[in-house]
Amino acid sequence: MPVVTSVINLKGGVGKTTITVALAHFLALEHRKRVLVIDLDPQTNATVSLIPEMEWKARDESGRTIYQLFADQVKRTTRFDADEAILRDVSNIGGNVKGLDLLPSSLRLIKIQDRVTQLTDFEGYERGPIFALRDALAGVLPYYDHVLIDCPPSLGIVTLNGLAISSSYLVPVVPDILSVLGIPPILDRVDHFGRCTRRNIRALGIVISKIRAQTLLHTEMVRRLREDFVERRFPIVFESMVPESTHIAEAADVMAPINTLQQKYGSPGPYEHLSALTREYLIHVAR
Ligand SMILES: Nc1ncnc2c1ncn2[C@@H]1O[C@H](COP(=O)(O)OP(=O)(O)OP(=O)(O)O)[C@@H](O)[C@H]1O
Ligand SMILES: [Mg+2]
Repeated sequence: MPVVTSVINLKGGVGKTTITVALAHFLALEHRKRVLVIDLDPQTNATVSLIPEMEWKARDESGRTIYQLFADQVKRTTRFDADEAILRDVSNIGGNVKGLDLLPSSLRLIKIQDRVTQLTDFEGYERGPIFALRDALAGVLPYYDHVLIDCPPSLGIVTLNGLAISSSYLVPVVPDILSVLGIPPILDRVDHFGRCTRRNIRALGIVISKIRAQTLLHTEMVRRLREDFVERRFPIVFESMVPESTHIAEAADVMAPINTLQQKYGSPGPYEHLSALTREYLIHVAR
């Protein structure tokens, strides 16, 4: 079975999608892994940074996105077919990346997730479609080496579906005070979910994102985060950090003509940091 990692944080804009998509690219291209990105966020950011928007629209209209999976739960239908919904060899590098697949999300997920939420018991998780994603993907997951799940900035029923198939999770954090204060509630909630559903979901670590190394606030926050790990309050903080860089922000443009990871993320600089982050990720998941 693959290594399945959810990328989560309750806070928005901390780099969850950027890190998910970057890790997927590096795992597929530099490590020749078979990778599936699951976009669970109705904002569809991971989806439209991997495939052109027009392609997404056509798929969404024909029930080949994650929307259909949750619509089936509410309407008691069985239209979602993982094999049909997954796009193979996506992304823009050199005209599509071999081994990088995508299960796309949908804007329509916003509406349906409210109805799915009403079906769910969030105390003991004994009622509700917690395992809809697991059941739908049972036949396709064994094909992959790595699955990366881009979660919305919440721990609602859609994210829980991702956690229900995850062996681990990563928490991207921007090094500021509010982001750091937001970490313990995430750890507690995932821990509670893992205990209720009898699953071991390992906190792989914290990834520092959008770091400005020359800023005193940022370096001080990174120091504090690493100390909190030493005091065993937090999971480890990855050595590799993702620098703030316009090149990384621009990498979300799937229409840009790009041939290499160095071109996509910018080298020297961001490319080397992301490459190191991926190597570190592989070490942590192997433990
Ligand atoms: N390292 C970086 N350098 C510069 N810009 C970045 C970096 N990482 C992310 N961004 C930009 O910051 C914004 C938020 O990033 P991203 O979408 O990855 O965050 P997110 O946590 O997935 O947000 P959301 O919770 O809304 O899904 C985007 O515009 C993205 O391009
Ligand atoms: Mg996102």
